[in-house]
Amino acid sequence: MNFENIIVSSENGIGQITINRPSKLNALNVATIRELHDAFQSLDENNETRVIIIIGEGEKAFVAGADISEFANYSIEEGAQLSQQGQELLFDFVENLKTPVIAAINGFALGGGLELAMSCHFRVASDNAKMGLPEVSLGVIPGYGGTQRLPQLVGKGRAMELIMTAGMIDAETAKNYGLVNHVVLQAELLEFTKSIATKIMRNSPAAIGKAIKAINDNYKDGVDGYKTEIKNFGKCFGTEDFKEGTTAFIEKRKAIFQGK
Ligand code: COA
Repeated sequence: MNFENIIVSSENGIGQITINRPSKLNALNVATIRELHDAFQSLDENNETRVIIIIGEGEKAFVAGADISEFANYSIEEGAQLSQQGQELLFDFVENLKTPVIAAINGFALGGGLELAMSCHFRVASDNAKMGLPEVSLGVIPGYGGTQRLPQLVGKGRAMELIMTAGMIDAETAKNYGLVNHVVLQAELLEFTKSIATKIMRNSPAAIGKAIKAINDNYKDGVDGYKTEIKNFGKCFGTEDFKEGTTAFIEKRKAIFQGK
């Protein structure tokens, strides 16, 4: 696939997506959102991809938000459509992938950038990272799931304050809030994130995909996550990965999972 705004690579089971508009601090325009959708879909469908890492090009930004220049003159209907299409194509899409997605936040993650990172299954930040949802300073609210995912991750009060003040927090504060799992030196961010990916890759992809769905269902209105857990727990017993995992344990060897 040829992309204009992102770079996609794959090595040893790790798919990497780099958002590549550094002159605009990797701001998310509609074209980039579509490219990201296509890249995530194709990596997720490829059984050789065990983990996906997303990062921004350069040392300054992960993503500094949705591209403000694109929507400055939108009408009410166009605004609602931008939000809905973006959520469907990218943010909800990423959250619900069966392949684990890790955001490597290498600088500013603002607005749509933080929303993208929050759609990923978890986050690692570099020590220079700055995060926030500054939308109300532009007269708009977060539209790519930020009002929902931020309180899920940091609690309602902190989310209210961050969104109302339009402020930024540094990486250590984000870690204290539970927004990111780890903070590392920028030069070590990618290698550190890959080392977590390598640990994930030792385990059953079939089971991981089912665990992601069960965890996500805890946050869905009208869906009983416990029921999903019961159903998916049962389904695991019909997978080749389960046979391989239990057999390998009994035979005292390392399991080799095929993700089936
Ligand atoms: N949309 C469109 N362009 C953006 C952008 C965004 N969200 N964020 C940064 N850019 C562009 C700037 O317009 C500038 O382009 P130019 O060189 O053609 O003028 C370029 O990226 C560099 O940004 P600049 O503002 O000069 O960098 P800085 O170091 O002075 O400030 C930020 C960095 C992140 C504080 C600042 O860019 C910013 O506040 N960006 C907007 C953040 C935001 O409100 N995001 C939420 C959007 S809903």
